[in-house]
Amino acid sequence: ENSYDFVVVANRLPVDRITNPDGTQGFQRSPGGLVTALEPVMASSEGAWVGWHGGIGEELESFDKDEIHLVPVPLDEDDLSLYYEGFSNSTLWPLYHDVIVPPEYHRTWWDRYKKINQRFADAVLKIAAPNATVWVHDYQLQLVPQMLRLARPDLKIGFFLHIPFPAASLFSQLPWRTQILQGLAGADLVGFQRETDASNFLRCLRRFTGYSTKGDVATPPADSDMQNLCRANAHPISIDTKTIAKLSRDPQIIARAAQIRHELGNPKTIMLGVDRLDYTKGIRHRLKAYGELLTDQTLRAGDVCLIQVASPSRENVESYMELRDQVELMVGQITGQHDTLSHTTLRYLHQSYPLREMIAMYLAADVLLVTALRDGMNLVAKEFVAAHQDGRGVLVLSEYTGAADQLPQAVLVNPHDIDGMKAKIVEAVQMNESEQERRMKRMNRQLAVNDVSKWSNDFLAALAEINAASSVHG
Ligand code: G6P
Repeated sequence: ENSYDFVVVANRLPVDRITNPDGTQGFQRSPGGLVTALEPVMASSEGAWVGWHGGIGEELESFDKDEIHLVPVPLDEDDLSLYYEGFSNSTLWPLYHDVIVPPEYHRTWWDRYKKINQRFADAVLKIAAPNATVWVHDYQLQLVPQMLRLARPDLKIGFFLHIPFPAASLFSQLPWRTQILQGLAGADLVGFQRETDASNFLRCLRRFTGYSTKGDVATPPADSDMQNLCRANAHPISIDTKTIAKLSRDPQIIARAAQIRHELGNPKTIMLGVDRLDYTKGIRHRLKAYGELLTDQTLRAGDVCLIQVASPSRENVESYMELRDQVELMVGQITGQHDTLSHTTLRYLHQSYPLREMIAMYLAADVLLVTALRDGMNLVAKEFVAAHQDGRGVLVLSEYTGAADQLPQAVLVNPHDIDGMKAKIVEAVQMNESEQERRMKRMNRQLAVNDVSKWSNDFLAALAEINAASSVHG
């Protein structure tokens, strides 16, 4: 096995499994912004990516895909149920999203989380060159920084949390709060989506571990087995703005957008929601507001259509199954009450779509509804804006998203306030074209500068600046 100067670690590899025309199995690069942003760094500095390949109980050799060396980490059925569906998605996910559903605490899940984090760390240790930079991603792998630090003090370790970090009063519930905090503090730099996330983390470090903090730097207690300083601050993630903008000018995609509008019967207003089917996304709150607007005839059923894309997600987790039932009940109630033989008020799509088709939907839509109850960033909001270089369209955006910090020209809503949200949706539907354009242009100026490659470059530059000897005694 070769060794690599730059190693990315994430729960998933940036590839999707495909079946080739000849029936054999293969991999295709997934369209995510993260891998696009890291590709130049990967290609220029002997980069590798460590992650799960999506198969169950299947051990695969490392392989190269489009200039990136991929190192698959195997997960079997028990690993998936205890580490992935259990601790990651039934303990941490709800806890970090402000306990929208109650987190469950099980010692067997925690034990497996530790074991799998060690498996990822070991895969990194096998391939990391001396003084390599390792960038660990997201809540599934919070113990990896410390595991790497203790085994290999030469490594430069960064961590980025893609989801929110909760307030100390909520985080305190976690029976393993000290271990998680120490796991993260093994990194030289911990990046968060928002300033609040970073300050929540630093407050938790002070309260639940012996760390002291000054500004954005945390110092370990003298008796700690880790003696590195840990810096924690905000690095809001973004999208590949140029690629999205370019696709939005593609004549085929523009024609497809017109076709979508036509097939829906050219309604006056098309609204759009695009989410993983997840309880953090506020889909029920959105449907409640929309249904009431139709029932009280503030919106005329014949004039509007809401396209709701809800892509399948974590389908073996109980709370996701319950959410699906609730959403599909509401969809049936709305369409049953308001549709006619010739017109639908709500097109519900429990599917995921390729990027080009998503851009066509963004272009076809007049209003995008992002009503998350809590969301680390929400890249859909940014993609919708980048797809509207034409200056048309209105973004309705929940205050509870990271994106709201960067897109204040959106129509901001509190999804818990159904009446308030109804009024804002009406405002969005009625907004005149010059006001739409003024807001879209401002937001697009923001995204033109702050794209995903600036995000990764800034993070890696900040990590590189941290002195190799920045330990307490250094
Ligand atoms: C969020 C998380 C990611 C995760 C993605 C999809 O964006 O921050 O870490 O990969 O959701 O969820 P899944 O469980 O399918 O990986």
